[in-house]
Amino acid sequence: MDFEGKDIISMNDLTREEIDEILLKVPDVCNHPDKKSLCKDKVSAMLFFEPSTRTRTSFEVAMRNLGGTVGGFFDANITSVVKEESLWDTVKMHDGYGFHVMVIRHPLKGASRLAAEAAEIPVINAGDGPNQHPTQTLLDLYSIKETQGTLDGLTVAMVGDLANGRTVHSLTEALLKYDNCHLIFISPRDLAMPRFIVDKCKKVSSETGSSFTEGTRIEDYVADVDILYMTRIQKERLLERTAAEKFRSIYRLEASMLKNSKPHMKVMHPLPRVTEIAQDVDATHHAYYFQQARNGLFVRETLLALILGAVK
Ligand code: CP
Repeated sequence: MDFEGKDIISMNDLTREEIDEILLKVPDVCNHPDKKSLCKDKVSAMLFFEPSTRTRTSFEVAMRNLGGTVGGFFDANITSVVKEESLWDTVKMHDGYGFHVMVIRHPLKGASRLAAEAAEIPVINAGDGPNQHPTQTLLDLYSIKETQGTLDGLTVAMVGDLANGRTVHSLTEALLKYDNCHLIFISPRDLAMPRFIVDKCKKVSSETGSSFTEGTRIEDYVADVDILYMTRIQKERLLERTAAEKFRSIYRLEASMLKNSKPHMKVMHPLPRVTEIAQDVDATHHAYYFQQARNGLFVRETLLALILGAVK
């Protein structure tokens, strides 16, 4: 498989075999004897139209760890976007400045796909509105496999704002490629998983042996799951502030709620967390969100090395 020059826009664009190959390459890249010069003289354009801590920082550090550098912007308010320059033109400009790869985060669904059409260089979607966050999903899958030893046959509960959370959309699309997964969608009814994704779950279930359940209470499922994937309420994507306040503290996982969990069960979260995981969970052996975020560095190093043709 050759990933050189490939765009990473949606988990729907990757086959199970391609995902497995990327995950398998992670130790090769991280332990590569020439890691510090794998992407020497390569430059990544970082186009961040939305705030980020992990995605931005880990991509930046990943590029530097491979011997490359980064340019671009992390605050669109100090670019000509404020003069109404279009996304297309902004991408075109960066495409012409000699960058080798573009990492883009944008509040609008489809923005990364548009960027990939505008750019000659490969484009990586670092999150497009409520749609997809494929590099988060790759690090999630890496972390799930690291803790469970497999991506098949798992029971994975996703909790929170499933309507607007791009990480759960990407993760669901990815897990549907694996066999015999049981997905549990836990949310308030107003923030349920989009129907087009639920419909896809129904369609795929007969092909892969997967199944899904929808519920509203963590307590009903916590003893059954291998992965409890918590997410925050996406207040920036809710139209009404009152709705954001109403749902803000609707889920709060506390250590006491984990006493009947399977021993190997891991609590994951794409982060940032707000109130949905109490700090006392951090001290349990179920907490895995900080290791998960750290895996983002390794997975992003691997993606950059593959896309820039530094490893095959
Ligand atoms: N998980 C994630 O995308 O975090 P950031 O928004 O901080 O990048």
